[in-house]
Amino acid sequence: MSAQARDQIRSLATSRIRELANAAMGREGVLPFWFGESDQPTPRFIAEAAIEGIEQGRTFYAHNMGIRPLREAIAGYLQDLHDKPFEADRIAVTSAGVSALMVAMQAILDPGDRVLAVTPVWPNLFEIPRILNAEVVEVPLEPKNGRWSLDLDRLFQALTPDTRLLLINSPNNPTGWTLDEASRDAILERCRRLGIWVMADDVYERLPFAANRLSAPSFLAAAEPEDRVFGVNSFSKAWRMTGWRLGWMSMPKGLEEDVGKLMEFNTSCAPHFIQQAAVVAIAEGEPEVARLRGELRDARDRLCGALSALPGVETVLPDGGMYAFFRVEGARDSVAICRRLIEEAGLGLAPGAAFGAGGEGWIRWCFAARPDKLEDGIGRLTRWAETNARQSA
Ligand SMILES: Cc1ncc(COP(=O)(O)O)c(C=O)c1O
Repeated sequence: MSAQARDQIRSLATSRIRELANAAMGREGVLPFWFGESDQPTPRFIAEAAIEGIEQGRTFYAHNMGIRPLREAIAGYLQDLHDKPFEADRIAVTSAGVSALMVAMQAILDPGDRVLAVTPVWPNLFEIPRILNAEVVEVPLEPKNGRWSLDLDRLFQALTPDTRLLLINSPNNPTGWTLDEASRDAILERCRRLGIWVMADDVYERLPFAANRLSAPSFLAAAEPEDRVFGVNSFSKAWRMTGWRLGWMSMPKGLEEDVGKLMEFNTSCAPHFIQQAAVVAIAEGEPEVARLRGELRDARDRLCGALSALPGVETVLPDGGMYAFFRVEGARDSVAICRRLIEEAGLGLAPGAAFGAGGEGWIRWCFAARPDKLEDGIGRLTRWAETNARQSA
């Protein structure tokens, strides 16, 4: 008998982004914008704090839930950001956002549970419940009057009393859709009434594009400590720390002990010296976060302006995050079109099909890139779109 994983795992889709990127990596002349990360390294002062941690010998196992100074720093940070008291006991430091999602879902999902996901969305959000044998139902975002929008009536119809969990990511990867306060309050109220858990993926919360906003609306600003709300967050995006693998979750009161057990059985703990660097990232990182937000706003304006001027290209302006989501007239198969862009334009983008049913036909472009790289990419797409338009004329 051949060795194989259980059926549920064998039926998981491999990442369509990885599939394309792996096939094209190492190929000469392909300009990559497929992954969701800044092309700039982590700020130096954060790296130095980690080096100092290693030199101080912070290389041993740490507390399951994270070192106390970091849990306190995160609680204080959330308190300031959302103007709401926050206790350090409700924070678990995880090995990045993806591990927070896994542990939180392990804590509350039984096989067969109904999970609602607002999509398109980063695939890990809906693949993790599938790993846990839950049933995932998608509620699609739709482009409306030049913005992505969530139809609340449609969402509320799908939020049946037997739904266990709502997955919602705002600002959204890949569309940039950002939840407004009134919709957030209505969703929270509905979930509260029906006893449905909310998994708020706030990984891009520091990257809204509205003028003068330091963070996007978050469920954490409206939820009470007893509400069934998980807030998932990460150092990856706002502090340019993707490779460090550090994040956190906030959880309702009363879950600490059980989440602590799961932390032990997942990763046991996040590395101590990296947590020590994260304390410094929070304490001193605000100017860097603001700088990134400004750079991303400029990049969004430049890229989306260029995309909307191209023949046969439709784009919807993102309100936050680091991605433009667009489609090319007549191109329904996003994997096929991304393959063509690699071959014909030397441009590495991510297929919308990776992000759930509603993403098919669309293409994601991560614009957290240096201006000269972005210009090069825009030039490549422009030449490709013009040739394409001429050929189909
Ligand atoms: C919506 C969303 N959530 C969570 C993550 C997880 O990020 P990390 O595991 O690097 O913290 C990502 C990464 O791309 C994301 O896009």
